[in-house]
Parts: sequence; structure tokens; C-alpha cells
Amino acid sequence: MSDRAVTSTNRATILDGKAIAAEVTAEVAAETDASGLRPGLAVVLVGDDPASAVYVRNKTRSAERVGFYHVQHTLPADTSEAELIQLIDRLNADDRVDGILVQLPLPGHIGKERVLDRVLPQKDVDGFHPMNAGLLTWRRPCLVPCTPAGVMELLRRTGQNLRGEEAVIVGRSNIVGKPMIQLLEQADCTVTLAHSRTRDLATVVGRASVVVAAVGVPELVKGAWIRDGARVIDVGINRAPSGRLVGDVEFAAAAERAAFITPVPGGVGPMTIAMLMRNTLTAAKRRLP
Ligand code: GUN
Repeated sequence: MSDRAVTSTNRATILDGKAIAAEVTAEVAAETDASGLRPGLAVVLVGDDPASAVYVRNKTRSAERVGFYHVQHTLPADTSEAELIQLIDRLNADDRVDGILVQLPLPGHIGKERVLDRVLPQKDVDGFHPMNAGLLTWRRPCLVPCTPAGVMELLRRTGQNLRGEEAVIVGRSNIVGKPMIQLLEQADCTVTLAHSRTRDLATVVGRASVVVAAVGVPELVKGAWIRDGARVIDVGINRAPSGRLVGDVEFAAAAERAAFITPVPGGVGPMTIAMLMRNTLTAAKRRLP
């Protein structure tokens, strides 16, 4: 990890996701250049959700920066499910496109699962297709969801081994919590999945030397729960009543106890896009004869 990617507080080393994402992106750009390939990313946005528009713009910009072919399809909010599926089919058949990303959320009249299931698993750079989820469980080559992959990259770049560590994930979403189970287990952690119904969350979190908070509740994980010297990765991005962005972890108090911690914003967020670029390059390499 480069020096600029870490800053020490009184206690915890802050994992600077922005700097680490820039390192990953530079690696992807260099590997792309060396491969002689032109990986292609298609991003699909339906409707005019302003947050989604920002995410999509950032993904397209990043693809441009690493030298990918990229195309963005922006469809009106009243697009039918059949029209969206037709577009997916065209992108599946388009040889320039190695990766297809359908930005979520989709408008309510569109069946999210029917759309995501239509993306060819080998072009599913979000790792949302059930085929990729199953392959991940069986530890077979697949495309790993970008946010969990980014969490693992942050943990790797602490330079500390994960073997035998007690990892606690808080939150059981398909996109983050569930794939985190597989990735942490594959790194030889002992994994606990905690969620909104977990009894005595404080004690469960207190056992962990690795905490991944992805529950979407502002500052649910209290600093006082954190075990001394733990690695704390905060996937949450929540708007506090004051308007400030906060994570799922009480940052300042947790930083007093943790050895490593991610800030919000500027922690996991930027890693998601960097890992999308990595997945698109991986998909392009795998499509070679
Ligand atoms: N909406 C919020 N996060 C994501 C993501 O990682 N991928 C997609 N496709 N949509 C999202």
C-alpha cells in the first residue's frame, strides 16, 4: 500500500478508499494497455433518479480513463420491461461489450430479477446473476460483486493476514452481506453473519477482529462495541438528519479502538467503481478464445 493511502489517527489507520481505488484503477489501466485488448462496458440507466445518474456518470468516466470502449444507454422511466430486455439481448450479442451493468434501482413496474437474470453471466460485471452467486459459493471462477470485492481489496491492502480471524458481517443483503460470507470464508476467516434480528449485536460485534458493516442504518455499530485492534470496514452511506453523510459505524469512537477503519465518504464507495473496472477487464480476458 502506498504511503498516501493511509493516515494515522490516535489509534486507527484510516484506509483511504479514494487513494486505494486510484491505485487499483491505475493497475487496471496498465494491464489493459499491456493486454492489447479493448474491454467494453455498457451501462444502462432507466429513469431519472439523480443519485443513479451521478453513479452512472462516474462509472462511465472511469471506463473512459482506463481506456475501455464504453457506451451508456439512458432510457425514460416509462420504458417497458420488454424494451429493457430487448436492449440487454442486444448488448449480450454485441462483441464490443464485455460487461453490462444495469443501474439499480429500476422503476417499480420493471421486474428487477427478470432483467438481471437476462444478462449473460460472463458479461455480468456487477456479479448479480444467480449463476455468479452460485459459482462464488462453490469457489469457482466467477464475477464477484464489486462492493464486496472492494472490501476484500481494502482488507488485503492493510497487509495483515485474514487467516483464522473472527469476521462479523452486519447486514444480509444479496449485494453485499451474502457474498461477503463467501469471500471472507475463502480468505480463511471464521465468519458470522449478523443482521437486524441478531440478539445482542454488541457482543457479537465485540468478538470480531474484522467487522464489515453493511446494514444501512446510520451509526448502528457503536464505537464501544469494537474489539481493540479490529479492522473495521464500513459499507454504509446514510444521510444523517443534519445532512452529513455517515456510515453504519460510529466512526470517531470506533477509530479509538480499531487498528484500521474506513471513512464515510471516501472508504468503500470509490472501491466499488475500481472493482467494476477490474471485473470488466477480467470479463474481456475470459472471453478470449
Ligand atoms: N445501485 C447501487 N449500487 C449499485 C451497484 O453496485 N450496482 C448497480 N448496478 N446498481 C447499484
